[in-house]
Amino acid sequence: MKLRSSNWFGRTGKDGFIYRAWMKGQGIPSHEFKGKPVIGICNTWSELTPCNAHFRELAESVKHGIYEAGGFPVEFPVMSLGETLIKPTAMLYRNLVSMDVEESIRANPMDGVVLLCGCDKTTPALIMGACSVDLPSIVVSGGAMLTGKFRGTDIGTSDVWRFAEALRAGKMSQQDMEFSEACMARSRGHCAVMGTASTMASMTEALGLSLAENAAIPAADSRRKTLAHLSGMRIVEMVKENLKLSDILSREAFENAIITNAAIGGSTNFIIHLLAIAGRIGVKLSIDDFDTDSRGIPLIANLQPSGKYFMEDLYYAGGIPAVMKELHSFLNGNTITVSGKPISENYENSDCYNREVIATVQQPFNQMAGICVLKGNLCEHGAVIKPSAASASLLKHTGKAVVFENIDDYKARIDDPDLDVDENSVLVLKHVGPRGYPGMPEVGNMSIPKKLLLKGITDIVRISDGRMSGTGFGTVVLHVSPEAFIGGNLAIVRNGDPITLDVKNKILCVEISEEEIGERRKKIKPMQQAAGRGYTWLFRQHVEQAHLGADLDFLKGGSGSEVLKDSH
Ligand code: FES
Repeated sequence: MKLRSSNWFGRTGKDGFIYRAWMKGQGIPSHEFKGKPVIGICNTWSELTPCNAHFRELAESVKHGIYEAGGFPVEFPVMSLGETLIKPTAMLYRNLVSMDVEESIRANPMDGVVLLCGCDKTTPALIMGACSVDLPSIVVSGGAMLTGKFRGTDIGTSDVWRFAEALRAGKMSQQDMEFSEACMARSRGHCAVMGTASTMASMTEALGLSLAENAAIPAADSRRKTLAHLSGMRIVEMVKENLKLSDILSREAFENAIITNAAIGGSTNFIIHLLAIAGRIGVKLSIDDFDTDSRGIPLIANLQPSGKYFMEDLYYAGGIPAVMKELHSFLNGNTITVSGKPISENYENSDCYNREVIATVQQPFNQMAGICVLKGNLCEHGAVIKPSAASASLLKHTGKAVVFENIDDYKARIDDPDLDVDENSVLVLKHVGPRGYPGMPEVGNMSIPKKLLLKGITDIVRISDGRMSGTGFGTVVLHVSPEAFIGGNLAIVRNGDPITLDVKNKILCVEISEEEIGERRKKIKPMQQAAGRGYTWLFRQHVEQAHLGADLDFLKGGSGSEVLKDSH
């Protein structure tokens, strides 16, 4: 086997001298890295990404495994994306990180890569970048926080939304809310509910990109480090077997991820990220496939925000292997995982230890699971809703639009006592899409107007071209495509227009005539692209719409692992 890294460390002459000497300068003898599989550990550690702040320790466990298996680890940083601190939205930078990952891997002497992923966007960004290089790669997720404990109650990130509404309604004090902060975030790890980070970790396991159990082991559990160690050992073998991402990421693997995501009530962000990953590895996947592949799949995981429990509970109940065992008749059991073996071996011997957390397919928590893709004159290319996190009474609803032209308009008027809104209204928020905002922020689960909150209303239909946090909930229609900024019909909706949402029949439409729509469209003024510069300018020029995964058009596909010019 000729190692890719031998193109660096196996050279003679001046180039070989340069490649080796500076490694020796770190105190590493050449037998450590010459002739052994060199494994990159792509680390998204950052103190600005609190969910990934334990990743240096995790990387040490990976390194131990790599050494044990006869490889040589090299840890390298890439830009990290923390949902909580980064502005205007981490999604703006997902594609930038994927470029960082892709170019860092290709440009350096690596034979295989371990991707350390945690907070929401770090997982898709790293997988997207690695797919465009297509070396043997394995994912190690950081794990979720321990379940929050607040005055006798279990809490997680979904409670942030509840607490915020309670504060606005005067049912919770600012002091109590601040006290609850440390009660929720009481350990290392990412959000403890089935939000986007846990969804991405589950997606990774269902795709076959990690060892079994990767998704649910809590960050603070010692078995998380054991899994990291075993993953380090396994990547060395993957290099010897030349088991690449493209060998694992078949069309059937994507179907397994879609089916599993439906059953666990995963985040709506799953769609946008999985589409982007498919685009990088060259698997044909459309937004309609999410509907087709998850048809008939019930909700069997009782996890917030769709249900009651937390990721820690999922792990103790059997984790994703126990979920996939329940789903076995729907899954493609023969797809290969990073283990080199069929995915069925990950779950066929697993057991469920708590039916309160993982139900059977025959007696699910909700017959309606998955993410429903809507079509209609408001969303020609699609929009999404998560029925399991919505109010059953609103899944078929017609109401009058209350329109916010942009995020500033929304912020200025949502709590206005004179806002013309009632419990049957449909809130519409424009210009929060990929190009319009830009970056498609998680603002789609707009707050309930204060005057309704005070009346005890906790959910109304909300529609936007933005996204929602995976920890959010409610009858929220997201990812409307085409977005308002590029002239989608969302742009022509006016206050008072009747809007119909019919989830069963997968319809989202504004009840006005085609003629009226045509007349209004003639009056749309093309939005002025802000001049701008730098990455944001590049993003606005090239980002695709939500139904295509919101990748940059020129990043789709891959360039393999060959370097462009091979000399100093
Ligand atoms: Fe990082 Fe929720 S903020 S996963």
